[in-house]
Amino acid sequence: MKTKTPSESKTVMTTMVLTNETNVYNNMFGGDLLSLMDRACAIAAQRHAEAPVVTASVNHVSFSLPIPAGSIVEVTAKVSKSFGSSMEVFADVWIDDPLNQIRTKTNEGIYTFVALDEDRKPKKVPELIPETEEEMLRHKGAQQRRELSLILSGRLNPSDAHELKKLLGKI
Ligand SMILES: CC(C)(COP(=O)(O)OP(=O)(O)OC[C@H]1O[C@@H](n2cnc3c(N)ncnc32)[C@H](O)[C@@H]1OP(=O)(O)O)[C@@H](O)C(=O)NCCC(=O)NCCS
Repeated sequence: MKTKTPSESKTVMTTMVLTNETNVYNNMFGGDLLSLMDRACAIAAQRHAEAPVVTASVNHVSFSLPIPAGSIVEVTAKVSKSFGSSMEVFADVWIDDPLNQIRTKTNEGIYTFVALDEDRKPKKVPELIPETEEEMLRHKGAQQRRELSLILSGRLNPSDAHELKKLLGKI
C-alpha cells in the first residue's frame, strides 16, 4: 500500500463568525466551532484514507482564547498518524486578522477517525510519513494518545497500554 504525507490531507476551512453563532459574551459558540473542526478533520481523514470515514473519538479539545463575533476563523486539519483503519487528526484553529496582518491561534482539537469499506467495516488506511518538525512531534505522541482514548472508551486494559506507561513512568 502507498504511503502518504500529512500535507496530502491538509484541509483549510475559513468562515466569519456571525452574531447568531455567538454565546452570551458575543464570542463564537463552542458547539459551532466543534462542528467546524469535526468537518475539517473528516475531510482530512477522507483525503488520507481515500474512503468514507466516521468520527470514532474526540480525544481532546481545548478552548484557550475566545473568538469574538466578526472574526475570520480558520481551521486547519491534517492527519497526524495512521494506525490500522484509524487515523489521528489534528485541528488547529486561528483567528485571521487581515486588516492588521495578524494570525492568532485560539485552540486545537485531536480527533480519531475510522475508514470504512463498502460493507461499512473498518478498512486499512495508508501509512503516514511525517515531514515537518511539528508533524514528527505529533506523530511520535499519537500512540500514547490512542492508548488513552482506548482506555477511556473501555477498549483497552490499562495494563496493556505500553507506550502510555512509558510516558507516565517519566513523570
Ligand atoms: C468507530 C467504529 C467504526 C469502530 O468499529 P468497530 O466495529 O468497533 O471496529 P474495531 O474494533 O475494529 O475498531 C476499528 C478501529 O477504530 C479504533 N477505535 C475505535 N474506537 C476508538 C476510540 N474511542 N479511540 C481511538 N480509536 C478507536 C480501533 O482501535 C481500531 O483502530 P485500528 O484499526 O487502527 O487498529 C464504530 O464504533 C462506529 O461506527 N461508531 C460510530 C461512528 C459514528 O457514527 N460517528 C459519528 C457520530 S455522529
